[in-house]
Parts: sequence; C-alpha cells; structure tokens
Amino acid sequence: HEADAYRTDLMTITRYVLNEQSRNPEARGDLTILLSHIVLGCKFVASAVNKAGLAKLIGLAGETNVQAKEQKKLDVLSNEVFVKALVSSGRTCVLVSEEDEEATFVEPALRGKYCVCFDPLDGSSNIDCGVSIGTIFGIYMIKDKENVTLEDVLQPGKNMVAAGYCMYGSSCTLVLSTGNGVNGFTLDPSLGEFILTHPDIKIPNKGKIYSVNEGNAKNWDEPTAKFVEKCKFPKDGSSPKSLRYIGSMVADVHRTLLYGGVFLYPADKKSPNGKLRVLYEVFPMSFLMEQAGGQSFTGKQRALDLIPTKIHERSPIFLGSYEDVEEIKGLYAEQA
Ligand code: AHG
Ligand code: MN
Ligand code: MN
Ligand code: MN
Repeated sequence: HEADAYRTDLMTITRYVLNEQSRNPEARGDLTILLSHIVLGCKFVASAVNKAGLAKLIGLAGETNVQAKEQKKLDVLSNEVFVKALVSSGRTCVLVSEEDEEATFVEPALRGKYCVCFDPLDGSSNIDCGVSIGTIFGIYMIKDKENVTLEDVLQPGKNMVAAGYCMYGSSCTLVLSTGNGVNGFTLDPSLGEFILTHPDIKIPNKGKIYSVNEGNAKNWDEPTAKFVEKCKFPKDGSSPKSLRYIGSMVADVHRTLLYGGVFLYPADKKSPNGKLRVLYEVFPMSFLMEQAGGQSFTGKQRALDLIPTKIHERSPIFLGSYEDVEEIKGLYAEQA
C-alpha cells in the first residue's frame, strides 16, 4: 500500500515537553514555558544564520548597512536575543552566557526558579564559510528564590534538570533531554515548528570515528596521544577509525551522538584545562551523552561530577560511545 505523503500527527517540541511535564503531578508548566522561549531564540538564530551569507549585501558583521546603522556580529546578536527571551520568560533568575563576562541576575519582578547557562553561538569561526554552528544550553533549578547567588550555577553538571543544543546545519535540529532520554526535533521552516524526528536517541556502544584537533598533538599528554595512535594503528586486528573534525562542538557532538565514536578536546601543555567551557559546553553535552547511553570523562573523573568554581571555567573533555570512552579511561588509569 502507498505511504502517506504527509504525516498528520505532529509531535511538536512543545507538545513533547507538555507530555513529559504531565508525568510529574507537581509540575506547573514552568519548564515548558522556559523551553518555548529558548526555542524562540533558536528560531531567530536559525533565520539570522540563513541570511549570514548575505552579510556583505545587507551589512551584517560589524559593517555599516545601507541605513548607515552599525550592524551587530551574529554571536553578539544571538546573545542579545537569548538574554531577552530568557528574561522575558519570567522563569529565570541567573543567566550565564559565553558572551558575557559576568552572570546576569534577573530583576526580582521577573524572577523564576531556573538558571540557564548557554553558548548562544558556538563554532563562530565557521560562520563566514557556511559550516554548521549551534547554540548550547544547560538548565539548573535554584534552591532559594529569595536568596539567589552564583552558587546556584556553580553546581555539578549532574544537577542539571535539562540540557540541549540546536544545530544550524543543512537542516536545523534541536536535541533535548529533560532527564528522561534524548530526543531530536527538526525545524519545519514552512510551519515554524520543531517536529520530533529523532525519538529516543541512543549512541552506538562503540564507534568508528574519532574527532579531535590533531594540530595540537605536539602538546598532548600521554593518554591522549596513545588513544589517537590506537585509533590510527589498532593493535587488535580491528580497522582504523576515521577522523572527522568540523571545529564546531555542536556539529562534532551531533555526529558523535548519531553515528557513535568519540569527540575529544583534551588538555595540552599550553592549555592544561583544555579549551571548552564547563557550564555551557562540557556539561550540557555530557548530560546528553549520558542520557543517550554514552559517557563523558575529563581525564580525571566523570564530567558531570565536576564542581565548577568560576562561571567560565574550562575542562578537558572526552565524550561519546560507552566503550570508546571506557578505553580512554583505561589509558588514564594506566598512567596514574
Ligand atoms: P565558540 O565559537 O563558542 O567560541 O566555541 C568554539 C569551540 C567549539 O565549538 C569547538 O569545538 C572548538 O572551539 C574548536 O576549537 P579549535 O579551533 O581549537 O579546534
Ligand atoms: Mn562555544
Ligand atoms: Mn560562542
Ligand atoms: Mn566565542
């Protein structure tokens, strides 16, 4: 029989989050409202990214446009949109953004119970050549609404209540976990809605891909160097792994989640804490990896157990397929 050309029962991201929320009798819809504001920010950035190629024409990226108005860089613009969307949701109290040196404390009248840590535009070096970029976010709940401090965001990643990313790629995909598995939604531009296209994502137990900036190899520590050597020259008769590295964490992690393998941004002699930031890069991606059945390791411990001491703290990170990360953990244990 003929397949229907149109799917008629659409699971939008809002419907999905409402369903999730109805499983918790105490929930009052706050997370649903917060997420819908994040989704709005993602749609705005998706649309702005699509026009980025026209930057020269319409004068984006710090240049002056035809109306002689200064245009904002895409990452600055994205940050403004997210901050405003999050504050106006009335559900947030502390915001930490990669683009802002200091945390934002929401004024009491608009204050809610969630803290959001986000990277409004990740992979910004890839904007000008049209390669995939993304937004990453992680959400905590505050302890005491009357007494909000930086401590509310300086919590281990395992305390996050939700995390996700949106990838602005060949299609726009939002991957989300509210602590009950991982689901992927694709933006249908004709509807302006994210539709569930990747239900219950599970990362393959072992992968055939490794993803790392090998240009830093001369400064790597021994376990990292050994692992990459094993990827290229396996001694157990298995085939070598393929190397894929985009240089946008969102795109590299998205591929890792769907195809399996490992993504690593290790420590090196020049950057002993690696490059990626704990609150809005390492934690959300580690949360998703664990929720999808994979692992995430810092070289010392489970990434989600890390307790950050400052908002822009960095950490080395190895995340992906369970077996592959297990191998890396083994190499670090050998060295210790
Ligand atoms: P951002 O654009 O938000 O500053 O982050 C870029 C990050 C991340 O997306 C990526 O994994 C990493 O930088 C790539 O770093 P290298 O260029 O050092 O490989
Ligand atoms: Mn980033
Ligand atoms: Mn960024
Ligand atoms: Mn940046």
